[in-house]
Amino acid sequence: MDTIEKFNRHVMSTYGRLDIVLDKGQQQTATAEDGKQYIDFGSGIGTNSLGYCDKDWADAVCAQVRSIQHTSNYYYTKVQADFAEKLCSATGYSKIFFGNSGAEANECAIKLARKYSFDKYGKDAQRNMIITLVNSFHGRTLATLSATGQEVFHNYFFPFLEGFVNVEANNIDDLKAKLEENKGRVCAVMFEFVQGEGGVCPLTQEFVDAIFEECAKDDILTIADEVQTGVGRTGAVLTSKLFGVKPNITTLAKGLAGGIPIGACLADESCCDVLTKSTHGSTFGGNPLACAGGNVVIGKVSDPAFIKEINRKAELFRSELAKIDEVEGVDGMGLMIGVRLKTKKASDILAKCADKGLLILTAKEKLRFLPPLNISDENIIKGMEILKEILDEK
Ligand SMILES: Cc1ncc(COP(=O)(O)O)c(C=O)c1O
Repeated sequence: MDTIEKFNRHVMSTYGRLDIVLDKGQQQTATAEDGKQYIDFGSGIGTNSLGYCDKDWADAVCAQVRSIQHTSNYYYTKVQADFAEKLCSATGYSKIFFGNSGAEANECAIKLARKYSFDKYGKDAQRNMIITLVNSFHGRTLATLSATGQEVFHNYFFPFLEGFVNVEANNIDDLKAKLEENKGRVCAVMFEFVQGEGGVCPLTQEFVDAIFEECAKDDILTIADEVQTGVGRTGAVLTSKLFGVKPNITTLAKGLAGGIPIGACLADESCCDVLTKSTHGSTFGGNPLACAGGNVVIGKVSDPAFIKEINRKAELFRSELAKIDEVEGVDGMGLMIGVRLKTKKASDILAKCADKGLLILTAKEKLRFLPPLNISDENIIKGMEILKEILDEK
């Protein structure tokens, strides 16, 4: 039985996969079982932030494997303490809860926001509603699906969690109206600075400013879901810095540990002590391997020279894309890139790129690139040549 047959026989078919079995990777190139090589503009949906098997990252993770691979949270580990300190110092947050995925980081943020209001205003106030945005994506657990502002996800799994109200992204009037309608009941507003799964759609500065102004009036917490936009992806350690704001809570996952499962909920001084003993937990949260990988990632991303390079590479992508006739426009920030096409279908292009040795992603009707943050100029150019050839086909 070959790999794909075995896989499909035993693994639930929840994904639309390409018929490629990836076996190895080095830097930005993945190699399949049959030896075919692929330049990777997707990096495992933005997780392999330093590419495949980056030497510093692999050395740190391998050393950790040989030292201690896991302890429960009954105990402390130095590697988790070091990572938490580095992450707090790079982001300006006070304390962190570690989980294993973006959905879990957001679950933590939702629980934290509700308990913040419960502790401060009491159970009877029922100050537990969270405003999220239309077209958002916050994860696949029931709470994070309930938070997700896309109707397409609100099916089958009834009943969904109560207490989420959606506001149209970039519509300040809608935001104000929904806050007014639910006055005294809202504990948080949660948003992505650039809606990733929603199609690489950035918020406007005016809308972000309005969220912070409105929330400040009524002790409403701001939660930035930076699971996709965080850790250097948009050309800053956190995208909030580019918007000049400081959310009370930021959630991170994807690229944070360079390809090892991790999720992190970062809280500022106002709410970092809300989750107390036994109110939240995770068996694997803060796993030493993830923290060892994360230490290397955050170490690199905290270096201004590394961030400068991300922004230079982002420009290179954009200038190469500008040379392609079929490209209608480019959205996103930094190395979170959404490409609008004039006539062609994104899913067809994705399959054709894979045939020619380039791995890309899509988001809604756009092509999406989330390449490794340290991708070489050479591989950007090579990948763009493949894409150009496909998009130029008549
Ligand atoms: C903005 C955002 N939040 C949350 C998630 C969920 O992350 P995970 O799949 O790690 O649970 C994703 C995943 O794509 C995401 O893009």
